[in-house]
Amino acid sequence: MDTIATLLPQPLQARLKAAPAAWLVTGAAGFIGSNLVEALLALDQTVVGLDNFATGYRANLDEVGRRVGSEAWTRFRFIEGDIRNLDDCRAACAGIRHVLHQAALGSVPRSIEDPLTTHAVNAAGFVNMLAAARDAGVASFTYAASSSTYGDEPTLPKVEDRIGRPLSPYAATKLFNEIDAEVFARCYGFKAIGLRYFNVFGPRQDPDGAYAAVIPQWIATMIRGDAVFINGDGSTSRDFCFVANAVQANLLAALAPDEHRDQVYNVAVGQRTSLNQLFDTLQARLAEHGVRYARRPSYREFRAGDVLHSLADIGKAADRLGYAPSHDLRDGLGVAMPWYLQSIHPHTSG
Ligand SMILES: NC(=O)c1ccc[n+]([C@@H]2O[C@H](COP(=O)([O-])OP(=O)(O)OC[C@H]3O[C@@H](n4cnc5c(N)ncnc54)[C@H](O)[C@@H]3O)[C@@H](O)[C@H]2O)c1
Repeated sequence: MDTIATLLPQPLQARLKAAPAAWLVTGAAGFIGSNLVEALLALDQTVVGLDNFATGYRANLDEVGRRVGSEAWTRFRFIEGDIRNLDDCRAACAGIRHVLHQAALGSVPRSIEDPLTTHAVNAAGFVNMLAAARDAGVASFTYAASSSTYGDEPTLPKVEDRIGRPLSPYAATKLFNEIDAEVFARCYGFKAIGLRYFNVFGPRQDPDGAYAAVIPQWIATMIRGDAVFINGDGSTSRDFCFVANAVQANLLAALAPDEHRDQVYNVAVGQRTSLNQLFDTLQARLAEHGVRYARRPSYREFRAGDVLHSLADIGKAADRLGYAPSHDLRDGLGVAMPWYLQSIHPHTSG
């Protein structure tokens, strides 16, 4: 079975295989975290995973185990723990060389409903992880930042040093992360790299629940024949980034030379797709797999806290990290579609 590691550039695969190390992936049972675990294990690394299953699933880890095989799986150790608990963070960081910190509560609407929990996990939990990683003497700390940090800055494409005001509690926590990481760099010489993900999609992204991301949610809705809702008039646009690109950026950041640390980088493709275009694309891709969705979308109000347009300039990550996205939206959907079709089931009658 091909793992996500096979989608990474060959030289990067070779670099990892030549230098096995101990990695910590927080949020390991989640979407991006489980893909990182899969890639690392397939590339001969030793991995500790930390997660409290707030939004992640044991089934994601089981799937990784099946995909990497029993030998690689012996190099994985899972800690069920919470980043709000400093002792859990310390236990997870012991003996680790590279930290890939993904654990957080995603979703703008969730943060508007419950800003306190979002802050406790995403902001305070983040500082716990920074402190634990620094005390453990890790060589690198790469963390999931977010394109939501651009807030109300209207310029397109988004360039790392031009950000606006955050539009949601979630965006505020992701901005705090960047500030805290920079302060740790300044005060302690700690090496931390932020990756501002732009709408990542791919296998194991949760299609269900009120806070599901648009691609898995719409695919599930189409497979089940339910109504697709578009928030706004459909002109809202996003730079959709296949998860293999995000995995690539994480590994490059962790291995980056020191002078390229303490920075934030956009992680995207550099292409913009409107929600109306996304609807048509998903409908067409599903039809290729024999799933016919004949309905048109229903339009409703714009959602509070959402950024209208999002498009990344990926030049900084390309220049300094050697980042080169391997999959655009179409390619990524091609890889991910079998997973959606296998994991999402139509309604059964009766
Ligand atoms: N998916 C995207 O498009 C996107 C975009 C921008 C940023 N991000 C960021 O990337 C990271 C990963 O997101 P994802 O899409 O994989 O989401 P996800 O919900 O699938 O994964 C997050 C994981 O973190 C775990 N977690 C949550 N709270 C925790 C806690 N207190 N202690 C330990 N573990 C905890 C969850 O159980 C889950 O497994 C997050 O930091 C998110 O904010 C994602």
